[in-house]
Amino acid sequence: MSELVQRYTASVLFDKRLWQADITASLAHAEMLSHQGIISKEDHSAIAQGMAQIWTEIENGSFEWKLALEDVHLNIEARLTQLAGDAGKRLHTGRSRNDQVATALRLWTRRELTLVAGRVLDLIDVLVASADAAGWGKGSIYMPGYTHLQRAQPVQLSHHLAAHAWSLLRDTDRIFSAIDRGNISPLGAGALAGSSLPIDPSLTAKEMGFRAAFVNSLDAVSDRDFVAEALFNIALLGVHLSRLGEEWVLWTTEEFGFAKLDDAYSTGSSMLPQKKNADIAELARGKSGRFIGNLTGLLTTLKGLPLAYNRDLQEDKEPLFDSVNQVKLALSALSGMISTATFNKDRMQLAADDQLMAATDLAEWMVRKGIPFRQAHAHVGELVQQSIKTGKLLHDLALASELFGKFAAELIAPGVGVSMRTSPGGAGPVPGEVQRQQLELAIEVARGEWEDLLAI
Ligand code: ARG
Repeated sequence: MSELVQRYTASVLFDKRLWQADITASLAHAEMLSHQGIISKEDHSAIAQGMAQIWTEIENGSFEWKLALEDVHLNIEARLTQLAGDAGKRLHTGRSRNDQVATALRLWTRRELTLVAGRVLDLIDVLVASADAAGWGKGSIYMPGYTHLQRAQPVQLSHHLAAHAWSLLRDTDRIFSAIDRGNISPLGAGALAGSSLPIDPSLTAKEMGFRAAFVNSLDAVSDRDFVAEALFNIALLGVHLSRLGEEWVLWTTEEFGFAKLDDAYSTGSSMLPQKKNADIAELARGKSGRFIGNLTGLLTTLKGLPLAYNRDLQEDKEPLFDSVNQVKLALSALSGMISTATFNKDRMQLAADDQLMAATDLAEWMVRKGIPFRQAHAHVGELVQQSIKTGKLLHDLALASELFGKFAAELIAPGVGVSMRTSPGGAGPVPGEVQRQQLELAIEVARGEWEDLLAI
């Protein structure tokens, strides 16, 4: 092979991070070969000893990675043969790099997705802690809720923060189910069609903590659904982080002034000394484009491939590694940013006490008096228009009006609006306290599932 082709085809520079997974899978394979009487017990223990040394060498940085040996798998196997002689040469019995790489990548993905989910759970904890500090019950911090980014109705700050926690809980749920679907061992599929030797794929599957072994060898070596699902889950998680980030960019502007970032989690400007920028939030927004790109890139790579293994599949790794690395960083940075930020209660509440936001409550007050909602909507609409035209406060106009009067006007007082959001799942203190418990329960369930996965 020419030097150029070597550089073009080699993957070791990026796939060496699969080394632990590769060694784990090789040890399981050797044990199965020995159990099945395909290699001797002596060969098995020579392989195990050699792999233990390789593990140490890679960990302490003395392992010599060679581009000429193409990928992580051939590098490790070549070193094993140096250390264990013929026993090393027997390891690849009944196995191909096609099932080997698929196995190692599944092990790696299972572990890394678990770690990603752990960081999502940490961010959820941060959001819930901020929500707790803002309060859930009567007298808690409230803010304007928006539709079309226009002030709409007051909501509790905790309710807003928790909305993000719920979307992140769906992300953990999706990650857990993707891990379960991908938790199938392809080892024993060989190059594409299995082996004539009495290998037992179910033994290696069990040894590596997989739910089961593959059923169809062609499918086993060509399936990268687990990578596509991982990339989709990260892409959607990234979209959630992007939306969260966008809000923090807005909230920390002079114009909103709802929140202030800690110096450790904001950046300055090289030219403007007064600047304090929400770069973490902006990058959470920016990196979501990259996650979507990694997903569409892989899907495009996969779409034209005939069964079974094709070298194109080597292109599965870099987008996966990139998305996993970047989303882990994004999650931790956002957790730090939010946990150290402070909210400006006065700014938020002042904005939420905008009298026009009580308009719906006035209409619902009329509904309770028996007036059809559409009609009530029109009456309040007139009042609002009058207020805008004359500059008079909605409260004063309601008080003076025959249709409304004193009791209706009381609904416009500061802080009253949010307490009127009483229906289940609503933004006020009454459903807020219920939600707090539901959130706790959902987090407990997710944490439990996560701990089970971490133990694999
Ligand atoms: N480095 C390859 C990959 O990542 C391993 C499998 C190579 N198999 C082969 N027959 N060339 O996909």
